[in-house]
Amino acid sequence: MKRRIGVLTSGGDAPGMNAAIRAIVRTALYKNYEIFGIKHGYRGLLNDDMIQLDHYSVANIIQRGGTIIGTARCDEFETDKGMRKAKRIMEKNRIDSIIVIGGDGTMRGAKEFSERFEAKIVGLPGTIDNDLYGTDFTIGFDTAVNSALEAVDRIRDTASSLERVFFIEVMGRYAGFISLAVGLAGGAEDVIIPETPTDIKEIARTIKDNIKKGKRSNIIIVAEGDEAGNALTVARKVKRLTGEDFRVAVLGYIQRGGTPSANDRILASRLGYAAVEAIEGERYGVMVGEINHEIVYTPFEQTYTIKKPIEDYLYKMIKILSG
Ligand code: F6P
Repeated sequence: MKRRIGVLTSGGDAPGMNAAIRAIVRTALYKNYEIFGIKHGYRGLLNDDMIQLDHYSVANIIQRGGTIIGTARCDEFETDKGMRKAKRIMEKNRIDSIIVIGGDGTMRGAKEFSERFEAKIVGLPGTIDNDLYGTDFTIGFDTAVNSALEAVDRIRDTASSLERVFFIEVMGRYAGFISLAVGLAGGAEDVIIPETPTDIKEIARTIKDNIKKGKRSNIIIVAEGDEAGNALTVARKVKRLTGEDFRVAVLGYIQRGGTPSANDRILASRLGYAAVEAIEGERYGVMVGEINHEIVYTPFEQTYTIKKPIEDYLYKMIKILSG
């Protein structure tokens, strides 16, 4: 009898998840395993909702955003009862191990399930937030940054034509990776990220100085999870000090959808392949990531308990480069 493995995507979707599913399916078939797609994350595992995948099931998906097997956030799975049920369903279907693709919530679930029920699980980092320790980049981050950047470039046209101050809110939950990358690549005048204290007075000073210098546009990128509040709150606080009119743009879900970038497709393909190899080598309880172009394996718990550091110097550099 052939060995059976499952794959699921969980939490927020991220561009490149399909490329990872494709790599996992094709590698698994190459290694003579049977491979099942578990629908809508851990919820599908509880509902016994899975389909067998073949070469053709993953044809023509490498370029598609979202996830063909669906995703969900599932509270029931977090309980002992839920996990026991999931284990029973795995046994009933002869699924001996699972590859889970997702963010910190997904890794948390994987850690509990592995430890409490000896489930054989391998994780892949799939989230636009890039906030998992154990990989330089998560699948989806690069595309999200590029999508946000396109929007920032467009907004810059309006900002400089009308000489207006713009506050642009980007996703990232409690992390500032998207904000920092978009700020640097988009030539922002300042960025606001949860990892560093936010000084409203300093932002106001920067804007006033810029206007005095004759700068036509001022773009401040605001990470959604900053303690100073969302983009509108920050903008209002700054206006009290500058008196300058402003506009706010919340980029929202456009950052999560769309065709994955080349970088995300390459990362997803490499990690998907490596995840099946990890299963083949009986290396469970770890997330497979890439650091300095090398495949690395990080125990689930470390991926969300160790805070992935931001590159501080980029934060300083943004202000210097914006002149
Ligand atoms: O984790 C990915 C993410 O897009 C975050 O950036 C954002 O805060 C969150 O998901 C939004 O979650 P939901 O899809 O539940 O609205």
